[in-house]
Amino acid sequence: MIVAIDGPAASGKGTLARRLAAHFGYAFLDTGLLYRATALHLLEAGGTPADAAAAERAAQRVGGAELLDPRLRSEEIGRLASAVAVIPAVRTALLEFQRRFAATPPGAVLDGRDIGTVVCPEAEAKIYITASLEERARRRAKELRDRGVEAIYERVLQDMQERDRRDSERRTAPLRPADDAFVLDTTALDAEAAFVIARDYVVKRRDAR
Ligand code: DC
Repeated sequence: MIVAIDGPAASGKGTLARRLAAHFGYAFLDTGLLYRATALHLLEAGGTPADAAAAERAAQRVGGAELLDPRLRSEEIGRLASAVAVIPAVRTALLEFQRRFAATPPGAVLDGRDIGTVVCPEAEAKIYITASLEERARRRAKELRDRGVEAIYERVLQDMQERDRRDSERRTAPLRPADDAFVLDTTALDAEAAFVIARDYVVKRRDAR
């Protein structure tokens, strides 16, 4: 059973995916970490996203303990991840790892931008989770402040708008809901309400198999 969760930055997809995985006893993969790890490898090798061959080499190294590196959570790495994610060779290099993970029995939950459309188009359950830009910026600013990072709402909003644009307008695997995805708008929902709706949807999809 594959559960694909896609959506823009700070839509709540990570929290939701993790809870669904724990609830159903499925494996969980935050695929954003693969792009973040690519960015970190590239940075450490002294490369930039302008060098597609260096970015591809960085992506080929992904898949080990570096996925647990706390530096992957920084906003700088997030921005760099979004920049390397537009490179088709980077996306191809990360595909195999994601597909192998998705085959973990008895099931797997993957969250990202293109899981339902490209990585696992055959997924039995697909959720596209979203919220208004302002609400997502508010949540991200709070999350940063809770971590002790200084955050100015206007700056966070601007960064998020830029990231949305790049993730949605890129040619390869842009951010968009799969035709058969269940779209869940959490602008007016808290994490618990979103979880209950998503859980009921997954149960229905699982039982329909
Ligand atoms: O979800 P995140 O913020 O950790 O993702 C960081 C970047 O990685 C995001 O801006 C775009 C890219 N990404 C992607 O292109 N495809 C995915 N499946 C996951 C992330």
